[in-house]
Amino acid sequence: MELAVALGAILLLAGGGAGACGPQLPEGCVCADASTRLRCRAAGLTSLPPLHDRLIELDVSGNNITALPPGALQPAASLRDLNLSANRLEAAAGALSGAALLRLWLDACALRRLPDASWPHLQLL
Ligand SMILES: *[C@@H]1O[C@H](CO)[C@@H](O)[C@H](O)[C@H]1NC(C)=O
Ligand SMILES: *[C@@H]1O[C@H](CO)[C@@H](O)[C@H](O)[C@H]1NC(C)=O
Repeated sequence: MELAVALGAILLLAGGGAGACGPQLPEGCVCADASTRLRCRAAGLTSLPPLHDRLIELDVSGNNITALPPGALQPAASLRDLNLSANRLEAAAGALSGAALLRLWLDACALRRLPDASWPHLQLL
C-alpha cells in the first residue's frame, strides 16, 4: 500500500504532472503541453526515451546516446523538432531518413557524416 503510494508520487514527478507520455518515462524526463513535448536534458540516457505519436518536440540533448537504430523515430510520427545536441551520436542514418522532422539540432555530436537521405522540409540548425 505504502509502496503503491510512493510509486505513484515518483511517476507524477517524472511525468511533470502530465503523466501521459507513458508509464516508463525515464528519470530526468519532463513531459509537457498535453504530451506534445518531451524534454530529457542531461538525463544520462544512452538511448531514446519511449516515444509516441503525439510528440512534436523532443529534447534529448546532453545525454550519452551513441546510435539511433533504424526506425527509432517511427513511433513519433508527428515529431517536428529534435534536439540531439551534445550526445555521442555516431550513427543515425536509418533513424532519420523518412522522419517528418522539420528541425534538427546536432551540435557537439560525434556524427561525422550526415545520412544521404533527402529531407525536403528539414532545416539544420
Ligand atoms: C556518459 O557516460 C560516461 C561514462 O560512460 C559518464 O562518465 C558521463 O557522465 C555520461 N555523460 C552524461 C551526459 O550522462
Ligand atoms: C538544444 O540543446 C542544447 C543543449 O541542451 C541547448 O543549448 C539548445 O538551446 C537546444 N536547442 C533548442 C532549440 O532547444
